[in-house]
Amino acid sequence: MTQRIALVTGGGRGLGKNAALKLASKGIGLILTWNSNEKEALQVVDEIRQSGGEAAALPLNVGDISTFPQFIKQVRETLQTQWQSDTFDYLLNNAGIGINAPYPAFTEAQFDQLLNIHFKGPFFLTQNLLPLMNRGGRILNVSTGLARFALPGYSAYAAMKGAMEVLTRYQAKELGERGITANIIAPGAIETDFSGGNVRDNAQLNAYIASQTALGRVGLPDDIGDAIAALLSDELAWMTAQRVEVSGGMFL
Ligand SMILES: NC(=O)c1ccc[n+]([C@@H]2O[C@H](COP(=O)([O-])OP(=O)(O)OC[C@H]3O[C@@H](n4cnc5c(N)ncnc54)[C@H](OP(=O)(O)O)[C@@H]3O)[C@@H](O)[C@H]2O)c1
Repeated sequence: MTQRIALVTGGGRGLGKNAALKLASKGIGLILTWNSNEKEALQVVDEIRQSGGEAAALPLNVGDISTFPQFIKQVRETLQTQWQSDTFDYLLNNAGIGINAPYPAFTEAQFDQLLNIHFKGPFFLTQNLLPLMNRGGRILNVSTGLARFALPGYSAYAAMKGAMEVLTRYQAKELGERGITANIIAPGAIETDFSGGNVRDNAQLNAYIASQTALGRVGLPDDIGDAIAALLSDELAWMTAQRVEVSGGMFL
């Protein structure tokens, strides 16, 4: 069987890095993207190669759709040079940032930044990548528990993720005829650099979230990387249009 290939946006750090390593350990080839941290992305590529896998890293600002034609060109070239392939199999729309500000004080600039990175970007990036996706390909978008429950300060961020949840159902409906599935994973609070690293570094917040979580702790990158690899496995190929929350039971 030819090697399957995954494209992971934001694969140099946090959840994207963990998912990339987990997918690579299953023999999947990886194209991961970086925005501000080329060095960390190249370290992930090195780590995958040293374990016998294949990987490449490309620059991408998912919040600027004018850069997408150049990015698609680079994806095509990378697929050709590294895998002698015209297509890839799995798309993980993971890249993102957090902006926490009270709703009454939220600025248009903050709103637009979240809109571009968390909704407009993945909407058009996926659209642009469709010609490169294999029949039977799999799209996995990334939402958040915050789209189900509300914590002050995340109004715009959570609303963009909610939009991605709706978009996921439309992608599933419209791409099903090509055998492509679309699902969305909604992590709870996870210890990464996200939102200034506050879930990891703020002991009071960490303890509060743990106390509100059925399994009694906050999430770790491994919890989500493993779940992403499972959601993209052959065993779940018949699942499409689903939101799957992986939060240890946060705010039930
Ligand atoms: N951590 C959580 O608690 C949590 C919970 C629910 C959902 N999520 C979601 O999970 C995803 C990953 O979050 P994380 O926790 O892994 O965050 P993270 O550790 O802060 O990593 C963010 C990643 O996104 C990339 N990125 C940021 N802005 C970008 C842009 N404009 N264009 C392209 N790439 C960009 C970064 O690339 P560079 O390093 O190159 O800048 C980095 O790889 C996000 O969509 C986030 O909303 C996180």
